[in-house]
Amino acid sequence: MILAFDTSCDDTSVAFYKSNKIYSNVVSSQNDIHSKFGGVIPELAARKHAEVIAYLTEEALNKVGANIGSVDYVAVTVGPGLLPSLLVGVSFAKALAYANNLPIIPINHIEGHIFAPFFNRNIKYPFLSLVVSGGHTHLFYVKNFGNYELIGKTLDDAVGEAFDKVARVLGLEYPGGPVIDKLSKNGDPYKFNIPKGLRNDRSFNFSFSGVKTHVKNLVKKLGSLSKTQIVDIAASFQKVSIDVLAEKTIGAAKNLNVKTISVSGGVSANSYLREKFSQVCSQNGIKLIIPSKEMTTDNALMIAFVASLDMNKATQEYFKIEANPSVRLF
Ligand code: KG4
Ligand code: ZN
Repeated sequence: MILAFDTSCDDTSVAFYKSNKIYSNVVSSQNDIHSKFGGVIPELAARKHAEVIAYLTEEALNKVGANIGSVDYVAVTVGPGLLPSLLVGVSFAKALAYANNLPIIPINHIEGHIFAPFFNRNIKYPFLSLVVSGGHTHLFYVKNFGNYELIGKTLDDAVGEAFDKVARVLGLEYPGGPVIDKLSKNGDPYKFNIPKGLRNDRSFNFSFSGVKTHVKNLVKKLGSLSKTQIVDIAASFQKVSIDVLAEKTIGAAKNLNVKTISVSGGVSANSYLREKFSQVCSQNGIKLIIPSKEMTTDNALMIAFVASLDMNKATQEYFKIEANPSVRLF
């Protein structure tokens, strides 16, 4: 039985995991704190994590009628992420493990996202894993557990970051992804011709800064925007950004002859992304594994799940567990 923590960015999350049927996953969002700044303020995020983490731990345990005595292992995200935020989760997890004489399992947040779609499903290797979040746009060739090859990544902004920045330019709230997703349902995605980043380049890398700058310049040129223009720009931006993700990921799958694609991270909650990937995957005879909405954004259940696949890493040498904002996966 694993008690897991994730405080990598702006959501505090605690999960208790016994099996794919018995688990809890509590997430406390900080969107209301950061929305007025249009992005995450690390110091404010860390303070809020510290304020709520003990209470959330109790809630995660209570939800499944467990207590600290029921826990066998503690797992925690050690990176990548914001250092002040990571420090809160890591310090809390280490103190709790030490006080209760429990082993602790350090987990890489990206590995959490890679395996989140497989919660409650069989994992069949190899697969291609596209991780799309506020900090990452990474395409991994997953040959086995622990054997990952990074075959593509963004050369500048992460796709979630582009959604957040474009939303800000359009005067929409933070985080931008969910708002753009919702507005785009009523927009015309062909109204504005926004160029796709790195479309014709033969690598599996991505680029979103040009798309973002294009929208910025367009908004400047149009002056004050009508509601219809905002909605159409949102839909056009969303379509080009997601289409390029889908085209390149499918291209990589064909190139490597991989028959399974998984998509995860906050942006995988996007309705157009889910629709587009399921359409292109079925056209190409590829199986698509996409997480439930609860498992797309940051949460501790994905951390507990990876910990359950990686019990060998458990240690009681607590001083060896450290927050590392730029820890690498490969
Ligand atoms: O995985 P996540 O919760 O945190 C990071 O590790 O970054 O991802 C957050 C990102 C934000 O940029 C947010 O705007 C984006 O995911 N996002 C979405 C949607 N929901 C969240 N982007 C597009 N459409 C959505 N529905
Ligand atoms: Zn994340």
